[in-house]
Amino acid sequence: MSDAHTSGAVTTALVDELAQLRARIHHHDYFYHTLDAPEIPDAEYDRLFARLEQLEALHPELITPDSPTQRVGSAPLSGFVQVTHEVPMMSLAKVFDEAELQDFEARIIKRLDATSAIRFSCEPKIDGVAVSLLYEDGVLVRAATRGDGVTGEDITHNVRTLRDVPLRLPVHPAAHEALPAVPARLEVRGEIYMSRSGFEAVNAQALASGGKTFVNPRNAAAGTLRQLDPRITATRPLRLFCYGANVLDAQESAPWQSLSETFACLRRWGLPVNPLIEQVEGVSQTLAYANDLLARRAALDYEIDGAVFKVDRLQLQAELGFNARTPRWAVAWKFPAEEVATVVRDVEFQVGRTGTITPVARLEPAFVGGVTVSNATLHNMAEIVRLGLQIGDRVIIRRAGDVIPKVVKVIEDDTESGTAERRPVQMPACCPACGSPVEPDGEILFRCSGGLVCPAQRKESIRHFCARGALNIEGLGDKLIEQLVDAGLIHDVADVFHLQHAQLAALERMGDKSAANLVTAIDKARSTTLTRFLYGLGIPEVGEATALALASHFGSLEALLAADIPALEAVPDVGPIVAARVQHFLEQAANRDVIARLREAGVHWADQAVIAASDVLAGKTFVLTGTLETMTRDDAKARLQALGAKVAGSVSKKTDYVVAGPGAGSKLDKAVELEVPVLDETAFLAFLTEHEA
Ligand code: IVH
Repeated sequence: MSDAHTSGAVTTALVDELAQLRARIHHHDYFYHTLDAPEIPDAEYDRLFARLEQLEALHPELITPDSPTQRVGSAPLSGFVQVTHEVPMMSLAKVFDEAELQDFEARIIKRLDATSAIRFSCEPKIDGVAVSLLYEDGVLVRAATRGDGVTGEDITHNVRTLRDVPLRLPVHPAAHEALPAVPARLEVRGEIYMSRSGFEAVNAQALASGGKTFVNPRNAAAGTLRQLDPRITATRPLRLFCYGANVLDAQESAPWQSLSETFACLRRWGLPVNPLIEQVEGVSQTLAYANDLLARRAALDYEIDGAVFKVDRLQLQAELGFNARTPRWAVAWKFPAEEVATVVRDVEFQVGRTGTITPVARLEPAFVGGVTVSNATLHNMAEIVRLGLQIGDRVIIRRAGDVIPKVVKVIEDDTESGTAERRPVQMPACCPACGSPVEPDGEILFRCSGGLVCPAQRKESIRHFCARGALNIEGLGDKLIEQLVDAGLIHDVADVFHLQHAQLAALERMGDKSAANLVTAIDKARSTTLTRFLYGLGIPEVGEATALALASHFGSLEALLAADIPALEAVPDVGPIVAARVQHFLEQAANRDVIARLREAGVHWADQAVIAASDVLAGKTFVLTGTLETMTRDDAKARLQALGAKVAGSVSKKTDYVVAGPGAGSKLDKAVELEVPVLDETAFLAFLTEHEA
């Protein structure tokens, strides 16, 4: 790429370079977006694109409509233009059972007087928006919606922004095999859709920015294609699968005789065709295809609402012709709907592992996504407000893929409304599992304050108490805790200290030796620190750093238990929220009872030891970067500070160690550059343990 082209006159070399750049970019768009298999690094692609933009800026007269820089046209439209389809866009007749499928085949055999099995193209029925793409001399000149089948709307400005849609065919002239020539006037048909993951991302972003969310990927695709401003469309992850093509000039013959040949050709020209399309002989095999496809449905990243079976040979299609609105050579086999309407009978509240209270809709049972559903999650109170939901409302529920059913929409002004009376949803004042007071946690969530005594939180609170930063009982992991709680051997953390060797040894997958080891570990854990003990209680908002601050400030559990809010707020780094949480937790009779039983069971610490932090790392400066898996950054910081170390925010020559977890960025680069020793999480844990001992 000579830089002579960036100035001066239009030369053949410049025209060649422009053509080459465009071809290369089209080629890489196809590998990146359609095949999901980029051949070059993003930076290299960006370089090509920047070069093309640079040359086009210098020579605007050489910009072609199929240039990759022209995907997003500048100005929004003021309205849509009507388009008359040269070949009407029909819809499909539906079949609902095997008998109807057999009738479909029988009718075909009779009409054709066929003696051998009919070959069918079996295709996923993509749940998106039908589109017609018109290519003239290989260049995309128009894209239109189906509309009423006869006239649709011109959505060229939006469709051009899809990276899946080639602006010129063929996308990548094959080096080895001769490609069939692209007909002078070619109409390609397909479905524009939004992937499930793209839909989740679009909605997550809309929620974060206070925008409107879409109910499902299909609505998101349709809404996006109805945008007047293509710049908005360009930001949305729309994709395309092609399922048919027409050669529009009567005098030109098509380079294919069957749908399978059509798809092979479209693929070679660079158009995306669904990879799950298959050809089978006879209708019984189409049924096997449909069952197989249904089994794969949940795992696909796009929504399908059924399978389409089409006579593969185009000559036979032509002989069969059409009914009033549907072809005789194709049918749609519908899958169970992923969205249905039902009535919310009640809203109940569930307590999660960590005490979060979640509203759950109890529904009039409904068949959705292949199963009968009688509950749907409502996430949180803010979601209920957003939906405008009240008990008794008729709603749309959705169960797509394997995900938990959710309420997506309240059906308003519905004459069939389930109950005349509507009743607002209210967060209960007390936890449904243990009766402890429910408290707001931030702006959206609510939490049970039962902590140690709430049965819904029992396993989690025991797991937390036994974990490394807390009492650190070696050998008492998640699985074993689960087993012990389920067997009724422990109900809360205090019970752990009453476990007997014989009880443990009788458990499944537990030998005599491991039981003995565990008893020893439990016994060892009786001797701990006030910091570990406080952290282990799982008081909301009290991580390792706050536990250390509380222990250092009060020096003894008695002093802490006697502290009022002003006394708690006097602790460094403890604000009104944390103070309220601590006081509230410690004043609950149930929590006090567990604490007393723990002490009776012999859990103890040296009151004074916690006050003087160790100085083994005095004078050493650490920087933490990236995420740590076994502890929070605050906890890591607290443990370092407890050893006398300083924790700084940026790396300099004065830094002694950098602790880097996954996702570490510039701080890690800086450490390497300055040759500061870097510890990964494993090394860091070993380092802490060694110095804490
Ligand atoms: S063939 C005359 N194939 O389903 C044939 N349609 O009710 C008409 N669709 O409007 C279409 N995947 O939006 C065909 N593989 C597929 C399809 C498909 C989705 C949609 C399309 C059409 C509707 C038919």
